[in-house]
Amino acid sequence: MKITFKIWRQKNSDSKGTLKTYDVDGLTEDMSFLEALDHLNEQLVLKNEEVIAYEYDCREGICGQCGVFINGRAHGPHDHMTTCQLHMRSFKDGDTIVVEPWRAKSFPIIKDLIVDRSAFDRIIEEGAYISSKTGTAPESNAIPIPKAKADKAMDAAACIGCGACVATCKNSSAALFTSAKINHLNSLPQGKAEEHERVEAMTWQMKEEGFGSCTFTGACEVECPEAISITNIAEMNARKLKAKLLG
Ligand code: SF4
Ligand code: FES
Repeated sequence: MKITFKIWRQKNSDSKGTLKTYDVDGLTEDMSFLEALDHLNEQLVLKNEEVIAYEYDCREGICGQCGVFINGRAHGPHDHMTTCQLHMRSFKDGDTIVVEPWRAKSFPIIKDLIVDRSAFDRIIEEGAYISSKTGTAPESNAIPIPKAKADKAMDAAACIGCGACVATCKNSSAALFTSAKINHLNSLPQGKAEEHERVEAMTWQMKEEGFGSCTFTGACEVECPEAISITNIAEMNARKLKAKLLG
């Protein structure tokens, strides 16, 4: 399988980047997309050229580190899939594939395809924790949680922090990510103690980081590998209003 890659190369956040073309032979349809990039990097090493920087850890759709734009779509041509879960069988022999980093002011490019997503960490720091007493672990059934509530919290907890929602949103809004983190904890009895502070602090930090406002286009939900629903955003807004009213 032969593919022409056009890949964004950029030395650092201060330099100007450009798309560079690489003709890559010897790929197979069973290779993952990241393995195809590995294959290209091996060829660059043999030619004494600088390898392409891209991020990954688990390669199993868990860690959220691998996100890039592939032919203009976050994480590639399929809905609800991470870049590392994409395989070369999704492309045809002779295809041209354009690979770019996330494009968002709050995610500055570090190098090539790697962006700085620490803005997400700072949102998390503001409220994605619960207060609990130290000492022996409580009996596991001491706080009964209805299944529907537990399921809802777990659905929100599925967010892997990949940033595709921000990158794909025309406003670079982080509302899907932030709402998932808030609703995960605010839906559970364990998260009630900081319920109002959490929503105030995390949405405030989201603004501080320069993310745009949500205009409910729904693009984030389509590209989210975990299919986090935009109803989370409506719920976050309702929680914010409640926090304001109740203080
Ligand atoms: S909400 Fe979805 S797209 Fe956004 S960071 Fe979480 S997993 Fe990624
Ligand atoms: S490398 Fe972990 S989600 Fe892709």
